[in-house]
Amino acid sequence: MRARAAGRRSSGRSIGLVPTMGALHAGHGALLERGRAGSDYLVASIFVNPLQFDRRDDFEAYGRNLAADVEFCSAHGVDAVFAPAVEELYPAPQQTFVEVGGVSARLEGQFRPGHFRGVATVVSKLFHIVSPDRAWFGEKDAQQLAVIGRMVKDLNLAVEIVPVATVRERDGLALSSRNRRLSADERAAAPLLHRALCAVRQAIEAGSTDPTEAVAPALGMLRGEPRFRVEYLEVVDPAAMAPVGRITGRVLIAAAAWLGETRLIDNVGAG
Ligand code: PAF
Repeated sequence: MRARAAGRRSSGRSIGLVPTMGALHAGHGALLERGRAGSDYLVASIFVNPLQFDRRDDFEAYGRNLAADVEFCSAHGVDAVFAPAVEELYPAPQQTFVEVGGVSARLEGQFRPGHFRGVATVVSKLFHIVSPDRAWFGEKDAQQLAVIGRMVKDLNLAVEIVPVATVRERDGLALSSRNRRLSADERAAAPLLHRALCAVRQAIEAGSTDPTEAVAPALGMLRGEPRFRVEYLEVVDPAAMAPVGRITGRVLIAAAAWLGETRLIDNVGAG
């Protein structure tokens, strides 16, 4: 991969990277389309990264279908798919990790210990191997985007991070590889998470400046659906990814909730 990328670079072509864990869907399609338009040589990586899973069962249940993913990539004009085996990327137990401080502490960082250390470490490995000029990440994983952005800034990495808007089903559910695990009943209930986030946004846009007050009706909506178990629903500063005491400017409303055995996350902006 490194030799190929170096070859393209020496002939003056820009290199783009869309890092994925496979199980590709239209959300990844949007990243690939942006990547295709924004680079001469587009690489998609497919790697289910064991380092970022806090639960073994989640790692094992993660969808894997390399043939279908490669086809998806080629239909989106990808030039190279980089799909290393776990032993290739981690030939020996990793002793070096990338730990991004403050911005990874709350929300996902609080409920999935070690998750962002795994993400930052693998993304930094991918950046070193592919040496992209640009890389595209989805806003659905807003905190991941903030963590990667901070890592790039703090470590002076020569890559531009480009955010891509969340792709949603018609009923508002954010596309995610994990949606495939929902039963028909759970799938029918799932859009409630996005509706709850929109209710918080509405409260803020109607003038609410107290985050506790703004989220209260939305929490009530989610608690009214017994299959949902909310982990967090917070109004946060989009750069710091930490809860705000008072809503005075642009904020992000972020939530994570279990629906049966599936964990969903989503967010919307407001203000
Ligand atoms: O968002 C993902 O799919 C993963 O966290 C990423 C960025 C590919 C790193 O494994």
